[in-house]
Amino acid sequence: MLAQKILPSVDHHGSQAPRADDAQRPNAAGPYRRLYEALLTPSPTLQTRQHAAQWLQRLMDDSKDVPSALCEAPEDLHAWARANAQSVAQRYQAYLDGRRAGGERQYFHNRAHALNFLASVAPTKLVDGSWLYGLAQHSSTERLRPLLQTYLEELGDGVPHKNHVTLYRQLMRRHGLQQDLQLDDANYLQGAVQLALGWNAEHLLPEVIGFNLGYEQLPLHLLITAYELNELGIDPYYFTLHVTVDNGDSGHAWQACEAVLQMMEVQADREQFWQRVRAGSKLADAGRGTQEVIASFDARAEVVKIFERKAPAGAGMHSDYCRIGGRTVNDWLGPQGNIDALLDALVDGGWIRLGAPVAQSRFWNLLQGERAEMFGVFTGYELQVIHDWIRGEDSRDGQDYAQPASANQTRRLPSFRALARHRSAGPFAASAEPVLDPELNQFNEQLQSLEGEQRRQFLSAALSPATHWTSTGLLATRLFINESWAA
Ligand SMILES: [Fe+2]
Repeated sequence: MLAQKILPSVDHHGSQAPRADDAQRPNAAGPYRRLYEALLTPSPTLQTRQHAAQWLQRLMDDSKDVPSALCEAPEDLHAWARANAQSVAQRYQAYLDGRRAGGERQYFHNRAHALNFLASVAPTKLVDGSWLYGLAQHSSTERLRPLLQTYLEELGDGVPHKNHVTLYRQLMRRHGLQQDLQLDDANYLQGAVQLALGWNAEHLLPEVIGFNLGYEQLPLHLLITAYELNELGIDPYYFTLHVTVDNGDSGHAWQACEAVLQMMEVQADREQFWQRVRAGSKLADAGRGTQEVIASFDARAEVVKIFERKAPAGAGMHSDYCRIGGRTVNDWLGPQGNIDALLDALVDGGWIRLGAPVAQSRFWNLLQGERAEMFGVFTGYELQVIHDWIRGEDSRDGQDYAQPASANQTRRLPSFRALARHRSAGPFAASAEPVLDPELNQFNEQLQSLEGEQRRQFLSAALSPATHWTSTGLLATRLFINESWAA
């Protein structure tokens, strides 16, 4: 990954620009999210695609003076990529040495912090590979094959448990992260960039190739993230998978270099092409980077956000017997309530004992355990955040709220891999379920009536970022590979 940041520029972009009434609509989506969602449909309008291309051009213009991390000459690309991989390996080794010597985790303070990271980067991860979608329409162009191969591998070649987006969706579901967490608009910027490239490949091919080059180099943060997720009992597979597929010998990093070199051979103006590749590569660093997302986590602020999301559903649902700090719960949660002050009142009134085991907090016992009166109100993620906020520094032990250790427990938590080995030893057999999928039936019916170019276009349309992870998209990917790729 490149080192410099690109400052976003969001005004003057037609329908994607912030609206004058955004300030009066606290839950209104910001401009990046609006663009992201407009592009994450099976068929964005021409106007949306053009706006997106203009926006990308502005981002690149704004970063003109940002130094490029790429090598100066295209002939040095493979050596540059190898040097990057070696540097990452050395720095990762230093990290591992530090941890073995007793150093603390560098990324995630506790389990809630790690889950918050997964949620915060989700807008990017859920469109993984999308910058290459435009190449699906050009499967017969030999020189673009390394890029299309990368895209098909992002899609897991149509195999559900290998499709990167499907894997991330499963990860989020497993940890109660699937609802709208109302992330900051900046979290949508990188995903919007990727989608905008994917829907404008014909006009921005050098930039797509350059973005791919910058984005597919193995970054150090991927290795550390995977290591610390595993340590906290969270499946790191999505991240470890990228360590292996991005490898510089034959993987995506190598394919990215090959794509530049192969296209370079047929350019009338090689210098102009190379400069556009370089501009596109800087887009790989647009938006919030891993370190910035990690640094932005504040457990108490996240608890406030969680309570604020629940407040409209909870106001009016409580009896007036219960008072906290002299006010009824309905009052606290109502339009005149103040969630930040409510948390203080819960602490001051002894409902929450910060820094103590959660079982000593009356409020926690309303959420979890036998006869918990508020059982089911909060998702797994939300409970983990509340749990870790209450425990404070003690939460560094990474305890899972759902599997509390006994008070005397001093052994290390089992890693995700250790837990997975334990689970796989049990009597767990896969079942062959009958398929209930009207969308898939409809897709098959439509497909049967199509031949030749029409059929190829129908299949490649189903490979779009909005659909490739669905059952129809996965089937379309497998058929596309058989009919247009491997043929
Ligand atoms: Fe990926």
